[in-house]
Amino acid sequence: MIRLEHIFKWYSVAGTKSFILKDINLTIEEGDFISIMGPSGSGKSTLLNVIGMLDEPNEGKYFFMDEDVLTMKPKKRTQLFQSHMGYVFQSYHLIDELTVYENIETPLIYKNISSSERKSIVSDLLDRFNIVGKKDLFPAQLSGGQQQIVGIARALAGSPKLLLADEPTGNLNSKQGEEIMDLFKQLNEDGVTIIQVTHSEKNAEYGKRIIHMLDGQLK
Ligand SMILES: Nc1ncnc2c1ncn2[C@@H]1O[C@H](COP(=O)(O)OP(=O)(O)O)[C@@H](O)[C@H]1O
Ligand SMILES: [Mg+2]
Repeated sequence: MIRLEHIFKWYSVAGTKSFILKDINLTIEEGDFISIMGPSGSGKSTLLNVIGMLDEPNEGKYFFMDEDVLTMKPKKRTQLFQSHMGYVFQSYHLIDELTVYENIETPLIYKNISSSERKSIVSDLLDRFNIVGKKDLFPAQLSGGQQQIVGIARALAGSPKLLLADEPTGNLNSKQGEEIMDLFKQLNEDGVTIIQVTHSEKNAEYGKRIIHMLDGQLK
């Protein structure tokens, strides 16, 4: 499903290259569940952003479902993302001007799903995550944990084949965190490929494979 070959990412600081990703080679098969661990600043979010097509490396090749991601037109890349990927951001990235309901509905509008079907999908998700009572609130009216739950519901709305999650339980209490990990496990059993970044050993164990990063390299 995913093939990264010799991926490098750097920033030029005062004329010298500061490497964020250094020669990343990684193959991920459909159905896998990967946990990425590593100290803060080791490049985990950058790697996830490259996989999620939100960031471009300076060098290397990236194939997603046999398509060459780095040479395709931006429009095609966006389509590929919208049809196959769901992304849970560390800092939620909810749209402030939209309600909880509308935030979850957004990816479905991009996917051209009919309004009645959208309504049924969003209602199911609101139910599943116990946030029916919050549906007309705006992100600023929610706690961090609640915003994260909305972010997860939004990522799942389009039934993605690949779920990318950057510290998805970082702002949740331990019970909520465990519920999310159980949900990820279930989704994976149902065929969704998952890549999560986590600081928690316990959460990492939910994955089938744990990848360690240090100073921009896979260990
Ligand atoms: N725009 C940028 N300019 C310079 N350095 C950056 C920029 N964005 C991220 N970095 C650096 O890249 C490194 C890796 O960041 P990140 O991928 O967020 O790590 P992690 O998610 O593992 O904490 C950090 O040292 C960070 O400071
Ligand atoms: Mg990070």
